[in-house]
Amino acid sequence: MDELQEKFCQQFSDVLYLSLENSGALEEYLHHQKWIDANEKIVSLEKPGEGNMNVVVRVITDQQRFIVKQPRPWVNKYPQVAAPMNRVEVEATFYELIATYNKLKASTPNLIGYDAEQFLLALEDLGNGSDFTDLYQKGKSITREEISTLTVFISQLHQIRSSTVSVNVPANQAMKELNHEHIFNYPFLENNGFNLNDVQPGLQEVSLKYKRNEELKAKITRLGERYLAAGNTLLHGDYYPGSWLKTTSNIAIIDPEFAFLGDPEFDIGVMVAHLVMSEASSELVQQVLDEYNQPDGYDESLQCAYSGVEILRRIIGLAQLPLSLSLEEKRSLLTQATNWIQQY
Ligand SMILES: Nc1ncnc2c1ncn2[C@@H]1O[C@H](COP(=O)(O)OP(=O)(O)OP(=O)(O)O)[C@@H](O)[C@H]1O
Ligand SMILES: [Mg+2]
Repeated sequence: MDELQEKFCQQFSDVLYLSLENSGALEEYLHHQKWIDANEKIVSLEKPGEGNMNVVVRVITDQQRFIVKQPRPWVNKYPQVAAPMNRVEVEATFYELIATYNKLKASTPNLIGYDAEQFLLALEDLGNGSDFTDLYQKGKSITREEISTLTVFISQLHQIRSSTVSVNVPANQAMKELNHEHIFNYPFLENNGFNLNDVQPGLQEVSLKYKRNEELKAKITRLGERYLAAGNTLLHGDYYPGSWLKTTSNIAIIDPEFAFLGDPEFDIGVMVAHLVMSEASSELVQQVLDEYNQPDGYDESLQCAYSGVEILRRIIGLAQLPLSLSLEEKRSLLTQATNWIQQY
């Protein structure tokens, strides 16, 4: 048993520790849950794809395959960063809620089961398709059809508003606070201990202009306060290429663990920021804005400001992306991002 497993087991003595090595205990558990048949056997366990936050395992039995997901009280890849366990509850509740909306359900994995006591989620396996994080590579582009699918999904999701229907999702405040730190605060601290020259020589120097811009930082603080406040529109909360999965026939949306009721401008701002960072054409970005069905009161300048912060934090913050941009290209994106924030 490694040190982290021991720490987890001490804290949660009755909880199954999900891992690729723990097939016997998992099989017993799945029988007990009746998530698999009494005579069904696990043939193998696989890692289905890249992820940082949680333990995600593909279970292959002699009869079927599905995905099991479990959090740790920390970020799985960075155990020094604490993270709330109830993120799995948020994810389960999100899938349960949208299962009542046929079109949204068709674009997400079916929820097979959720066990609050074991912090375990079982999801339909959508196959071996990859996510869209290869978009950041030079020469890779998203198609018009894919943009439409993603925009239609998020438009329909944003129709779910607590002012008109009952939206029973947890506030997700602890996850928002974790995200808030890495979006609105940490990237702009001059002495945050993260040397950006390790990412790209010269980037640390470039970042100082933003870290020392008090007027900009005051606006970002205000946006951060908006993000932390409760709104009434259901958001995915992490609507970027890592949450979009290519399936054999279409695109599926996964990983709603950051979902909350908030500003719809946040989801669209994040989506647009990632299209811009992946060097999508301005026509494709415009297509999102044209096809998105804006809820009442939607504020495009707020959306631009959220896009701006997302670009800044992905370039000068800790949550780096596999971007293939030169220092000059990053500098120009940072300038554009700053303008968007300042115009808000
Ligand atoms: N239902 C599914 N069907 C097929 N593959 C899946 C499914 N869910 C997740 N995966 C694969 O597992 C990877 C990790 O899943 P997920 O993004 O849910 O985990 P995570 O730990 O929350 O990740 P992150 O750190 O990005 O938040 C995905 O990128 C995808 O490749
Ligand atoms: Mg996640």
